[in-house]
Amino acid sequence: MDPNASGLAMRLAEAGQSHLLQFWKELSPEEQAELTLDLQGMDFQEINGFFKKAMETSGSSKQEKMDSRMEPVPREVLGSVTRDRASLKDWEVAGLHCISQSKVAALLLAGGQGTRLGVSYPKGMYDVGLPSHKTLFQIQAERILKLQQLAEQKHKIKCCIPWYIMTSGRTMESTKDYFSQHNYFGLDKNNIIFFQQGMLPAMDYQGKIILENKGKLSMAPDGNGGLYRALGNQGIIDDMERRGIENIHVYCVDNILVKVADPSFIGFCVKKGAECGAKVVEKTNPTEAVGVVCKVDGRYQVVEYSEITLATAEKRSADGRLMFNAGNVANHFFSFGFLRDVVQKYEPKLQHHVAQKKIPYVDAKGQLIKPDKPNGIKMEKFVFDIFQFAKTFVVYEVLREDEFSPLKNADSQDAKDTPTTARHALMSLHHRWVLNAGAHFIDENGRHVPAIPSLKDGTDLPIKCEISPLVSYGGEGLEELVKGREFHPTLMIDGAGVHELVKNGV
Ligand code: UTP
Repeated sequence: MDPNASGLAMRLAEAGQSHLLQFWKELSPEEQAELTLDLQGMDFQEINGFFKKAMETSGSSKQEKMDSRMEPVPREVLGSVTRDRASLKDWEVAGLHCISQSKVAALLLAGGQGTRLGVSYPKGMYDVGLPSHKTLFQIQAERILKLQQLAEQKHKIKCCIPWYIMTSGRTMESTKDYFSQHNYFGLDKNNIIFFQQGMLPAMDYQGKIILENKGKLSMAPDGNGGLYRALGNQGIIDDMERRGIENIHVYCVDNILVKVADPSFIGFCVKKGAECGAKVVEKTNPTEAVGVVCKVDGRYQVVEYSEITLATAEKRSADGRLMFNAGNVANHFFSFGFLRDVVQKYEPKLQHHVAQKKIPYVDAKGQLIKPDKPNGIKMEKFVFDIFQFAKTFVVYEVLREDEFSPLKNADSQDAKDTPTTARHALMSLHHRWVLNAGAHFIDENGRHVPAIPSLKDGTDLPIKCEISPLVSYGGEGLEELVKGREFHPTLMIDGAGVHELVKNGV
């Protein structure tokens, strides 16, 4: 339809975005129809407002001010798997009880684009090369299945952990197809709820929306904090209410070690009466580029490494640990009431963060340009932006080697957080579970493999060992299978039993 007749041209002119139609006459009727559809669904005044606010905030230099306003997490709101061992069992029991009542939901943030990993499909479908070749989605699905079984066995009651999966416009269809092709990995498909986060256009520094080709806007998901708006406008909060969900565990798709709906974390947060909780790992290196959970002007937030001075990052407490050591791993607890308030009251108060990017665009002549330095911005909200609104906030510290190994980058010589590091982290965790259950590994010369591999002979590679989540969620239940036994890697423990792949020539 003619954009003048439909009023679209007028709306664009009022918003200073008329350039989006500059190639209109060169487009085919199909391309015109597609562009019209995209533009009709957009609220340009709102987008311009987001841009203005985001640019105003990002322009102000906050560094000095931030340092002097920061306080570390007080001990009374902190639970730690190493420092509070005596309470761990109680927390787990409390969490498992909530799960058995079907009051706990898992919420997966899987709307990212995974640009650094560089694959064209959703990151959850990535196979990091485990002996089983399970993908991140499958591992998480099986953990949920096992946890349901553990809660059911303990409480003799049927229960379910609904799994809410946030995707974006780019990943929705392939994610849904993947789950359906794999029969939802044994979960009930009625308890897997896919929903879609919003997208926002990339803009140049003058606030003009960027065209990625003559008939298409450059769009990107609105950050993992886009969660809150999506929870409201996709009816997810209502769905949670209908199901009687009281506690929600939110986590990222890329952490291969994630303890989905972790009962100890849930139990800790519930027992503390928390509205919101953040799982953290100890930051030990002052220059590690990880955000830290702390208080700023008395309110909780995540402060990025780039927002503080080195002097503050290096500060230590009396016990020798870094003062700001609560490393954020984007793994959170929300009470349902708090999440509903966030969606209904607080979300609109959040501003977008600005990420300066190199954004391919078409110039006035219609040529595609791939810039070599940042030429515009993407606007994103972050999932942790809402910490500030929680009246009761707690922090739960876990061991990095047990719970956090994100997949961010493709494999290369010096890259961090790659398929290789994720695979190694999982196998080395499972190796430790086997040792804890009273078994040993034997090398090709018949010698016991030491628990901590020695570096000198280049054997710093983990033992090849993988335990299906369907057998063990967190290391439990293995003694009866392996105690007192000796294994040659590759060891696989799954529904079919305990097997050594190499020895059997597999
Ligand atoms: P990252 O910030 O690491 O982004 O996301 P990413 O998209 O996975 O990877 P890059 O930066 O493009 O390489 C952290 C978590 O937040 C989710 C991701 O799916 C991941 O679980 N996320 C990110 C969303 O759900 N939506 C977004 O808009 C952005």
